[in-house]
Amino acid sequence: MKPKLKILFSILMITALIFGFIHVYFPDDNYSFERLHIFLFNLCTGGTILLYYTQGQERVSKTIRFFFLGSLIYAFSAFFKIYPITILVSIPLFILVEKIRIQKFSLFPILFFKFKEPVSEKFHQASLLCLSCGIVMASLVILNNEYFNFVTMEKLTLNTFFLGFSFPLSLITLSVVFSMLKKIEGSSSKILMEICFWTITLGVIIFFVFILLEKFIPQIFVTLALFMAVVAVFYLYSKFADKIQQKLFLTSGIGFLIFTAITGIAYIFMQMAEGYDPEKTKWFLHIHVFASLYGWNLCGLSIICRFNDFPIKLHSPTVIFIHWLTAIVLAPLGIFYGWFAFLAIFGYSFITLTLFFSGNKDRIENEIS
Ligand code: HEM
Repeated sequence: MKPKLKILFSILMITALIFGFIHVYFPDDNYSFERLHIFLFNLCTGGTILLYYTQGQERVSKTIRFFFLGSLIYAFSAFFKIYPITILVSIPLFILVEKIRIQKFSLFPILFFKFKEPVSEKFHQASLLCLSCGIVMASLVILNNEYFNFVTMEKLTLNTFFLGFSFPLSLITLSVVFSMLKKIEGSSSKILMEICFWTITLGVIIFFVFILLEKFIPQIFVTLALFMAVVAVFYLYSKFADKIQQKLFLTSGIGFLIFTAITGIAYIFMQMAEGYDPEKTKWFLHIHVFASLYGWNLCGLSIICRFNDFPIKLHSPTVIFIHWLTAIVLAPLGIFYGWFAFLAIFGYSFITLTLFFSGNKDRIENEIS
């Protein structure tokens, strides 16, 4: 990836985190900074990197440039609540994602049903589909809530779709995980890989439906299945993936995913408890979101950005330690104490810049010799 592009994405990701704190310290009933936070991270940066990775070219194509521009218009128009623009720009965004998906795969995702196809490709296609469907569904929700009011449901809001916009990155990270397991595709473990794929993809859809319906008991069953699938991924990965440098990063990433699942399930129990007050439990949801976006999703993003660059020159255990410290300690504490927010932004900037810009070990060694 070209340095200019890395600078652009790093700035956007750090800005996204800053917005993640602004809404805590300067709450504004009119404008949701949380929206900017989620859209800048997941849609503008994550979506663009996902498409760039799918095209697999060094050059940034016109399609991707248009997507990036459109996603910024989407994020800011949704933030300023200029919904006609958000809806209008959703159409080209959907078409651009689908264009790239169909070029890489096919119109109908028949790949999902072919047992012989690699699971990593299935996750990759699922990630693109999730992005395009998320864009369409969020627009339908805006149309419903702002103009038509066909359906009235408390959870049917654009903000509930924050979760949906986070999943494409999650799925592409799983695709990277499974790409390192290609060598066991022909073995009996393939069945377990397929079960993981179907449990995760169908599980998140069903889970999302139950969130909208506010049905907690079914949510617990679905999320327990998701949790078991995630643990199975961890098992497969730690047992079979090659010991290359990405492995340490991704093992840490899957650790974040397991942490995310545990905090997510705990949050469902909190919602079920008597006298549940969303305001009082918001801090816990923040921990969940920090671990999922800035832990798990960031691991995946940095690996797909630098996939061809590994081994990169960084002292991995130190970076991983700072990453965990920032995502699960500093950032959540930043919700309560302003100084921790600064430390979190500092720690996170360090991680992002290290992951994007640390030199390629081989290249540096070649230059020295
Ligand atoms: C098994 C895994 C997971 C479980 C059990 C879980 C559970 C939950 C629950 C119960 C909520 C609150 C939904 C509501 O009622 O509004 C939530 C919100 C959220 N989750 Fe997860 N989640 C999981 C995985 C993930 C992953 C992998 C990501 C990101 C990649 C993620 C990102 C989010 C986001 C962004 C929100 C929205 C927070 C908000 O409304 O501000 N979650 N999750």
